[in-house]
Amino acid sequence: MKIVNNFSLKNLNTFGINSIAKLYTEISTENDLISLVGNKYYQQNKHLILGGGSNILLTSNFDGLVIKNNIKGIEIVEENEHHIWVKANSGEVWHDFVKYCITKNYGGVENLSLIPGTVGAAPMQNIGAYGVEIKDVFDSLSAIEKATGKSQSFSLADCRFDYRESIFKNEVLNQFFITSVTFKLTKKDHVFNISYGAIRDMLGATPPSLKNISDVVIKIRQSKLPDPTKIGNSGSFFKNPTIEKIVFEELNATFKTMPNYQLSNGKTKIAAGWLIEQCGWKGKRFGEVGVHEKQALVLVNYGNGKGKDIVLLAEKIQKSVLEKFDIKLQTEVNFI
Ligand code: EPU
Repeated sequence: MKIVNNFSLKNLNTFGINSIAKLYTEISTENDLISLVGNKYYQQNKHLILGGGSNILLTSNFDGLVIKNNIKGIEIVEENEHHIWVKANSGEVWHDFVKYCITKNYGGVENLSLIPGTVGAAPMQNIGAYGVEIKDVFDSLSAIEKATGKSQSFSLADCRFDYRESIFKNEVLNQFFITSVTFKLTKKDHVFNISYGAIRDMLGATPPSLKNISDVVIKIRQSKLPDPTKIGNSGSFFKNPTIEKIVFEELNATFKTMPNYQLSNGKTKIAAGWLIEQCGWKGKRFGEVGVHEKQALVLVNYGNGKGKDIVLLAEKIQKSVLEKFDIKLQTEVNFI
């Protein structure tokens, strides 16, 4: 395992921010990781584990050791007549895993097609799209405790999944390196989730299948979200806020077209993209950074933007949404 100095992370984060890591290494096996834990550079520095780099904003250079996770491999661990338990190592590219499942006719992740990032990053923020979240297909995960190198297993309950949240973003933040995730998928009698209007509209009269749901999701994403290989971005920059129903009703009296979803806990979720668009930000460019023209929830780097330019833009957006709607937007992206 090679540790290098002064390594540019520009090609390793989807925002395309040119942050320099003081130290950088790549690991391909769990044993690489265990031996790294015994290395003095590991012990003397802070760490940043990188998967696809698709949910981070590098706000400056990183004065520590960046560990790029390349631990690959997918295996079947158990099956019965209806279900199959598939274990994917954490360095697998998420969409490659989705494609594998569709090819094998394993159901459950088709709505999560084309989400950037790796398998290991997916549980960190309970990735979700088009009515499905990773928690719906999650069985368990294995992780190595960064301080000790000891392996530990986390069940669904242990992970405390919530909307774009898990224990790994909260109680045990930065304490574990996820090495593999096991998913419980269907082998037959798939339960298709076509609750999202755009999926139903695009499917039309075609009966749903894993493949055509995946194809439709890919089309919807490509029509709204910028391709990070062309324009730097991290998907949704903010979370959709959840507010009390009474607060929503007051707002809705003034803003009649406000998109909203009633939650089972009685609260109301509203669309942050809509709030940002109403404040006039959609499609606005400020030098090297801006707000995407088709989805106001996505901030973009046109090429040479700096992390702090994005932070400044995000703060201005938060301030104007607060002033107009009295709602504090929270970031979905993790600031490093
Ligand atoms: N909207 C606007 N203007 C905009 C953007 C959205 O008015 O600029 C309105 C839309 O018309 C729609 C509503 O807001 O009525 C919701 O928009 P959309 O369906 O595009 O979804 P979203 O709530 O903006 C969330 C996730 C996405 C996920 C989609 C589909 C969050 C923070 N984002 O976006 O996830 O793909 O739903 O399920 O929950 C991500 O997390 O990075 C991400 C892309």
